[in-house]
Amino acid sequence: MTRVGDLLVKEPSSRTILTRKHVIDLDDFAVDEIEYVFSVTDAMKEIVGRDIKKAPSLRGKTIVTLFYQPSTRTRVSFEQAAKILNADVINVSEGSSSVAKGEALINTVETLQALAADVVIVRHPHAGVPNMLARNLERMGVINAGDGMHAHPTQALVDLYTLRNHMGSLAGKKIVIVGDILHSRVVRSNLWGLVKMGAEVTLCGPPAFLPLSEAFTQIGGGNAKNSQVRIETSLEVALDGADAVMALRVQSENHGRGGITNIREYIRLYQLDARRIQIAKPDAIIMHPGPVQEGIEVTTAVARGSQSVISEQVTNGVAVRMALLYLAIVRNEATQ
Ligand code: CP
Repeated sequence: MTRVGDLLVKEPSSRTILTRKHVIDLDDFAVDEIEYVFSVTDAMKEIVGRDIKKAPSLRGKTIVTLFYQPSTRTRVSFEQAAKILNADVINVSEGSSSVAKGEALINTVETLQALAADVVIVRHPHAGVPNMLARNLERMGVINAGDGMHAHPTQALVDLYTLRNHMGSLAGKKIVIVGDILHSRVVRSNLWGLVKMGAEVTLCGPPAFLPLSEAFTQIGGGNAKNSQVRIETSLEVALDGADAVMALRVQSENHGRGGITNIREYIRLYQLDARRIQIAKPDAIIMHPGPVQEGIEVTTAVARGSQSVISEQVTNGVAVRMALLYLAIVRNEATQ
């Protein structure tokens, strides 16, 4: 057992890596490690549910959020997670850092390291930035809060944790992800996790929103012939027998909505509405990593209906990120 604050968390049975300084994507997470993150998250959830939401695990530690793109859920939940664990939090944005005066990003982040920050949480429009920082920093940990169209591992862990809480094992479960697959970093990280956990994934959307099938079916070690990942353009076909349906935001800023004929056509063919969700299993859960554009990806009635777990995903985001901060700082130091 491991002590997390005043709670005990069961260690996994195998010799999984239980420490990691950086979280860049889920490709290098073993299943045991994901399950261990979830065990720690369960303990963190207990702390979040207390009247006084405080635990001393990160007292004296400093977390920096460095966001070069807008965010509500990810930035605020990391800040809340850090504060519940008693860390000091410094928020830096593009406009408030010296990058605006021409400083290279690596120099900005090395400056944060020299100022004794323990972990930097980075969101950046360019894929690969968190990985580049992790390779060049000597001491400070890096957590990827979304890089370009590449990855959003903490959101994927939130989604996997929410799925696991509703259906237990994901082995053989049919998960449909519908929407702007091509531009989504959330879907790429989710695919790594879902495939590792044994789920059957159907990616659905208009052809302009779908990637080349080979590139995606190879995520998780599959191949075009023998893969847990399927691509489908008909939402009605995709939804048949689904255990969970996740809608993705139409990323208008990335294609001016020009990648599809028009938004009304998208709504007609791909919006999750009361009629369509009946094609899935009766107890199927409806998910969305956010931000949600109600009336486009999903009707208001479905987004706020009894099958929706969208606000639960947001709530789980705090405990999952508490677990990741704890593992990146406390566990990591304990084994050095
Ligand atoms: N899901 C997500 O990344 O939301 P934010 O952009 O609000 O952080």
